[in-house]
Amino acid sequence: MCGIVGYIGNNAVEEILLSGLKNLEYRGYDSAGIALNDNQGIDVFRAKGKLNNLAEVLNFKHLETKHISQGIGHIRWATHGKATIENAHPHLSNDGKLVLVHNGIIENYKELKDELISQGFHFFSQTDTEAIVHLIDREYKKTFSLEQAVIKAIAMLKGAFALCIMHHNEPDKIIAVRKNAPLIIGLGKNENFIASDIPALVGKTQKIIHLDDNELAIVKKDKVIVKNFKGEVLNKAEENIQIAQDDITKQGYKHFMLKEICEQPQIIHKMLAEHIEMPEQPIHFDNINMTDLMEGVEKIEIVACGTSLNAAQIAQYMMEDLTGISVTIEPASEYIYKRHLTNNKTLSIGISQSGETADTITALKQAKANGAKILVITNRPDSSIVRYAHYVLPLNAGIEVSVAATKSYTAQLTMLCLLSLAMAENKQNMERQKILSIKQELLTLPIKMEEVLSSQREIKKCAEKYNKYKNFIYLARGINIATAQEGALKLKEISYINANSYVAGELKHGPIALLDSNMPILAIFSQNSKTYEKMLSNCEEAKARQAHLIALTNSSIENRKGFFDDMIIVPELSELLSPLLFALPIQLFAYYFADSLNLDVDQPRNLAKSVTVE
Ligand code: M6R
Repeated sequence: MCGIVGYIGNNAVEEILLSGLKNLEYRGYDSAGIALNDNQGIDVFRAKGKLNNLAEVLNFKHLETKHISQGIGHIRWATHGKATIENAHPHLSNDGKLVLVHNGIIENYKELKDELISQGFHFFSQTDTEAIVHLIDREYKKTFSLEQAVIKAIAMLKGAFALCIMHHNEPDKIIAVRKNAPLIIGLGKNENFIASDIPALVGKTQKIIHLDDNELAIVKKDKVIVKNFKGEVLNKAEENIQIAQDDITKQGYKHFMLKEICEQPQIIHKMLAEHIEMPEQPIHFDNINMTDLMEGVEKIEIVACGTSLNAAQIAQYMMEDLTGISVTIEPASEYIYKRHLTNNKTLSIGISQSGETADTITALKQAKANGAKILVITNRPDSSIVRYAHYVLPLNAGIEVSVAATKSYTAQLTMLCLLSLAMAENKQNMERQKILSIKQELLTLPIKMEEVLSSQREIKKCAEKYNKYKNFIYLARGINIATAQEGALKLKEISYINANSYVAGELKHGPIALLDSNMPILAIFSQNSKTYEKMLSNCEEAKARQAHLIALTNSSIENRKGFFDDMIIVPELSELLSPLLFALPIQLFAYYFADSLNLDVDQPRNLAKSVTVE
């Protein structure tokens, strides 16, 4: 949510900032801007909408960048104030000498703004960020030291902020500040970088320093000094990053979303090979001893948001079924506002693709404070969330660029299934043979995923047939209720269709009133499910109300072919594992639906890939 870049060095500043922002565009695309510091002063360029618009503004200006050795840039996901040029970052001080970009939310900005206005500062935007600029500027005019001014000003800020700050009078440095919003420093030779996330640094450097909360960095061309908010120097470790340019390019696919959908069989194959060396042997995780993890655990709770929350709901079924331990799930955004019985007998699991979701981090912090053991499942083991974890399970699904989560979802489900099986092995309350047969079935998943991908033409045809509808219902029962939720989420986020999911048995208790010939239904069910017959009855009830019915099922129910308007059939898999396979058709259906409407599949309106504000 909002992306920041900064550069100091002798190479083409404008190009470095733009390419960095391009790789961060998944974090927001309401506006973009850069500020360049040269001998004459600070120049700010901003544009509404995507980065391309900013690139056009810059082309038009025919910039001469050879005297510029310092710049900062930003892409915005609007929180305070509409997506306009005035609200776009960077924001300048009234004398035009101080400039900054910000990711986060300043909770006390109104009070600060009133105070600063009464002291004669002029505001030109509706953002919370502008209060920070004037605050630092005010302190600068007292201290004539950017570092001192920043330290004084940030002590007055409440909320979350990652900042990059430049002053025309101090062209030898950029100051980077982090509190509850991610920021890293990239280390180069006679040049250094600042970024919200690693993709911005790909192709530029492989060495980074992670800033922790309440730290700031004075970034010069030839050195980086990290301090705490009291101004004390800290010793920070350098780390190596391993993201290749290929990981963040489309590699011939029309969209990142389709590329990421198609990567799933390979990712799952790799994960299974890593954790199931021999099906007869216990599942193995590097760095996690299952006895240690499960010791004293009487209750499991899972917190997550969005797609990760849907994965959590499926995990609840799997874990309760395989271990007999009670599992609760909670939208992370609600967690801290509710009384919880979390204590030192609780295992709290946080699931987050990005590892930067503010709500999930806040929930885990509270669970940890209550004495729980914290296990984090993330695709980004280099992210903020791992700093609060006792145990980490990395997904290694590769960078996910498309805003809609796809490969990270099936990687989460696979990891959660492996974890549930490992818990069952550790508890020894389930027949070994049953665990073995689930593992053996799990190992068939990648090939079955390949089969689903090879039938994507039919799914495309089906999606195109229904793309004129403005409403959609997803129906399921049992473990696939969350599959229906995920299907509806995918469709609504990339095609803006009002798609909702219902527990099929609940249909007759109200939602059935919505049904008529303008309401298509996608019904998801396994043939080998306890509720198979009941699910078919629910479909009958819908059919009697003229709803169009699409079946997504793993059974080849020939005699039903005339009954359903369309059928998407996937290979056989037990009900427990079926969500891992059903995930692909629901992703493909949403993808082709949105693409056939010519929508911006990878960067849908109003969304950002990592939601770093609560
Ligand atoms: O990075 P996280 O898994 O914590 O993100 C959680 C949600 O913001 C995310 O899953 C969101 O719902 C996606 N856009 C879904 O496609």
